[in-house]
This record gives sequence, C-alpha cells and structure tokens, in this order.
Amino acid sequence: MGAGRKHFELDAERIDAMIVDARARASSPDDAGSLQALLHAAADGVPPSPSDAVALWCSSIDTDVIYRAACRAQSRRGLPLETFSPLYMTNTCDAECRMCGMRRDNRALVRETASSEQVEDQLRTLKRRGMNAVALLTGEYRSERRGWAIEFVNRALRTTEELGFGHVLINIGSLDPQEIDALLDGVSRAPDGSVAPKVTMCTFQETYSREYYGRFMGRSADNPRADYDRRLENFDRAREAGMRIANPGILIGLNPDLAFELTALILHTQHLLASGMEVYLSVPRLRLTAGGAEPRGATDDQFVRLVSLLALTVPDGKIVLTTREPKEVQHKLVPICTVLSAGSASVTPYTDDGARFPLETSQFEVIDQRPFEDVLGEFAADGGGIVNFGERTG
Ligand code: SAH
Ligand code: TRP
Ligand code: SF4
Repeated sequence: MGAGRKHFELDAERIDAMIVDARARASSPDDAGSLQALLHAAADGVPPSPSDAVALWCSSIDTDVIYRAACRAQSRRGLPLETFSPLYMTNTCDAECRMCGMRRDNRALVRETASSEQVEDQLRTLKRRGMNAVALLTGEYRSERRGWAIEFVNRALRTTEELGFGHVLINIGSLDPQEIDALLDGVSRAPDGSVAPKVTMCTFQETYSREYYGRFMGRSADNPRADYDRRLENFDRAREAGMRIANPGILIGLNPDLAFELTALILHTQHLLASGMEVYLSVPRLRLTAGGAEPRGATDDQFVRLVSLLALTVPDGKIVLTTREPKEVQHKLVPICTVLSAGSASVTPYTDDGARFPLETSQFEVIDQRPFEDVLGEFAADGGGIVNFGERTG
C-alpha cells in the first residue's frame, strides 16, 4: 500500500536559493507588475508556485491586499467551516521541547494522567454538547512508556468509533510502523485496506530548520523528539499503514525566518497531496506556559500574511485555526481557513457547559477561554452549519 512511494526529503539549500531569488524579484521594479498579476490570478483560483509565494511574502505589497486576494480565492471554493476540540489525556512527556509546558524537566507543571474511564467520560461530555470531532493528545515517550501510551490512545480511539465521532486527530508524536499498527488495532478498515473512520495523523515539524529544530527539540539520542528525520517522515509511514489524512504544521515563534518555514511547509504539503493524502495545516503561534517566559511570536500582520499566502498557494490544504488566537484574529482569518478548533489544553478539562483552563496543568495558555459553543456560535450564525458541531446527543 503505497510502500513504493518516496518519503519526503527537504532540500534546505534549494529553499534558501528560492528565497534569495524571491528577495531579488521582490525588490526589482521590473517585477512589481508581474507580482501584482500573480496575485490577481491567485485570487481567481490559479495558485502561485512556491517560489512565487515567497516572492509575494518578501514583496512590498500590503498584507491587506494579499489577504483580500485569499478571501476572494476562498469564497470561490465555498467550503463550510469545520471544528474539533482537543482532549489532553495526560500532560506527561519524556521529551524536552524548550517552548512546551509539558517538557519533562518543567517543574512548574503539575502532572496529571486521566484513566481510560475519565477519557470515555470526557468523550461522552463532548458528544452531549454537540462536539463531534476530537483531537487526542499525549506527550512523546521513551521506549519504556511508548507501549503504554499507544495502548491508552488506542482505547480512546476505539471509543470514538463506538460513539460515532466524525473526525479524530491523533497528536502523540511520531511513531514507528509497528506502533502505528498497534494504534489502529481494532479500528474499522475500508475494503481497500485504509482506515475507515476519519482519523488524522498530526505531527507538526514546528520548524523545518535543522538548526532551530535542534535548539528547541534537543539533540540527544535518548530524547524521543530530537530525531528530525523520524518526525519528518511520520506521515509517509502513516500512509503506508493505511492512514489517509495528514496534519503538518509550524510553530510560529521558533525560527524567525518565516520565509523559510512558509516555503518548507508548502513543499511538504505538496508532497503529501501528491501522495494521495488529504492535508490539514496548522500554524499555531507560541503562547505562554507554566514556568515559561512571555513568548515573542510573529506580529498579527506577519501572521495574516503567512496564512493568506498558505491559503492561496495550497488551496487544497485545510488550514486549522485554534483558540490560541483571540476572537478578533479568529474573525479576521476564519474566511480563509477551513477549521476553527476551540477547547482547553489542560487534562480532561470539560464540564457540562464549559472547561477548566488552569495554566499549571496546561500545555500552554489558551487565549480564548469561552465555552466552544460560544466561540463557534458566532460563526454558525453566519449561515450554514459547522461540520462536526451542533448535533447534540444524550
Ligand atoms: N506531544 C505531541 C503533541 C503536541 S501538542 C507532539 O509533540 O507531537 C501539539 C502542538 O502544540 C505542538 O506540536 C506544538 O506545535 C504546539 N505547542 C507546543 N508548545 C506550545 C506553546 N508554548 N504555545 C503554543 N503551542 C505550542
Ligand atoms: N495543539 C493541538 C493543535 O493545535 C491541540 C489543540 C487543537 C488545541 N485545538 C486547540 C489546544 C484549541 C488548545 C485550544 O492541533
Ligand atoms: Fe512533549 Fe510534544 Fe511538548 Fe515536545 S511538544 S515537550 S513532545 S508534549
């Protein structure tokens, strides 16, 4: 099953060369007209190439002009908004990502691990409140705890199928082939052998720069998260094991060279689409953690520019926005995104009508802490429903 297809490789030198070329085009008066023309074509549904996208990124064209082109391109597609809520099953982790509240050496975090019964209870609570899609999250573990974690998530995944969830996203780090098989054990398969329910593998590279990856995710061999290549090829292994949906992403605020990150994410997405996968795209901005310093991420202008260029360049990629972003940014960007995800980054946080958001048990600070019914209600009112939200049960 797809085993013969090539795994993704990132040619960083090619990207650097593209950026040098893009900077030259962006500052040459001769190219100003052609960049405007590219943008018009993009608004009309002709996606720019990756090098055109970087040239637009580097150009002096106002972010608002690029944003309006993205709005126009997206409105021609007319896709409904989708949603899901995160469910942290534990906040333990054996990795040491510098930016993350769950890193193993963070003494400011109070560790919690739910029981499988509590997880099932949370899933029922989400369903009862009309939430029909969920992201399952854990840390990433060394060999001693990997088996435990995969079995824990496998149980939850089976429960989501029993309860009839419409979409489940798996955020548990990168996995080896036999671990993916164990994760999917007991989950229904379609006649062609692919996973029948809608299940997405989520492993954000965070940064595609090997240098910054090492700085934040570490370099030591006993750190499960430090292996850049194992992380990069996770979706290819997932596809070979029967998964059909990938969710790559970049954590904005690690590598200041956003032109590099934008280009790499576009190339990775194009590889995954070409291999036949459906692709969700995440571009979280760095937030505060327990025991951490106030983060300095990208400005709102840079963020809007980046999301707009992603939407224009890989229109088949479904961009995910979360309640890490405040209400105003959600309203600005929902027209060019496909998913708005709302919920809490703390362990088993959901109540009958809201959620708990204690920073001392959360992966990071969630900015918009309103109940997801309130967050989503503002967009449901815009007409049309929201995919995976609204059909209350129980
Ligand atoms: N342990 C899993 C699941 C991570 S949660 C894994 O590492 O893959 C999903 C994402 O949260 C991470 O990939 C990262 O992009 C994001 N994240 C980590 N720390 C963050 C912070 N301080 N602010 C915002 N997002 C953060
Ligand atoms: N980090 C995960 C992601 O970005 C979990 C998540 C999804 C999340 N939606 C959220 C965390 C909303 C807090 C709030 O996919
Ligand atoms: Fe662990 Fe994931 Fe946080 Fe890294 S980002 S410390 S792997 S939870």
